[in-house]
Amino acid sequence: MTVPSPSSSSKGEEVQRLFDTVPGYYDRMNRLMTLGRHQAWCRDVARRAQVPAGGALLDIATGTGVIALEAARRYPDAAVHGVDFSEGMLAGARTKPGADAVTWQFADANALPFDDGTFDAVTHGYLLRNVEDAERVLAEQLRVLRPGGRLVILETCPPRGLLRRPVTLGVKVVVPLLGQLVARDRTSYTYLEESTLGFMSPEQVGEILRRLGFVSVAWDRRFLGTHMIVTAQKP
Ligand SMILES: C[S@@+](CC[C@H](N)C(=O)[O-])C[C@H]1O[C@@H](n2cnc3c(N)ncnc32)[C@H](O)[C@@H]1O
Repeated sequence: MTVPSPSSSSKGEEVQRLFDTVPGYYDRMNRLMTLGRHQAWCRDVARRAQVPAGGALLDIATGTGVIALEAARRYPDAAVHGVDFSEGMLAGARTKPGADAVTWQFADANALPFDDGTFDAVTHGYLLRNVEDAERVLAEQLRVLRPGGRLVILETCPPRGLLRRPVTLGVKVVVPLLGQLVARDRTSYTYLEESTLGFMSPEQVGEILRRLGFVSVAWDRRFLGTHMIVTAQKP
């Protein structure tokens, strides 16, 4: 099996560098920024993946492995793979309790090192807003899914309606401030704030998924409309 080189795009390289610097405090920052909800959302993502007995799940951009570990707990007889293009984040995942139940591997979401139709489910958390071409990355996911396989996406999204202004202001102030105080890294968390507010809506993600050929596309918003869980199926 050939392992593709990291994304050659400059955005990919920047993102890779950024995540190689954050694993030590990544989980703590996530808990703080989501008021402890991140773990529950990852559990929900694993539940929605509906992996059949003896099936296989791929968690892309697994980071410190929260979704992959939840999936391994939920589907103990499934083959769970967690992949990421940051060796630093993968090193964090490998040391967690239960990590032996997951196959951890370096992989770039732009060119997955798996054959067509390998997985019953593909999941990812906070991947799409970090890539240059979301459509290309989602097409790769469609390729590695088996017919009938499920895709479950956890992402941030811009708030809307009456909540848009206050929540936008809150994200702009609180996220970089927490980055400064907890991680001593205002720059990385300013990037996070900007990529959260500038990312697509669930409707836009849904449109891409349908264009690519996914069916049963649906989503829920979470956390004052700043997060979404999107599900879809390969026909
Ligand atoms: C914000 S973290 C999310 C980690 C985890 N999914 C979670 O929910 O906590 C984003 C992860 O995406 C990874 N990533 C970004 N672009 C990627 C790409 N093109 N291929 C593989 N991983 C990528 C980063 O290395 C990082 O670990």
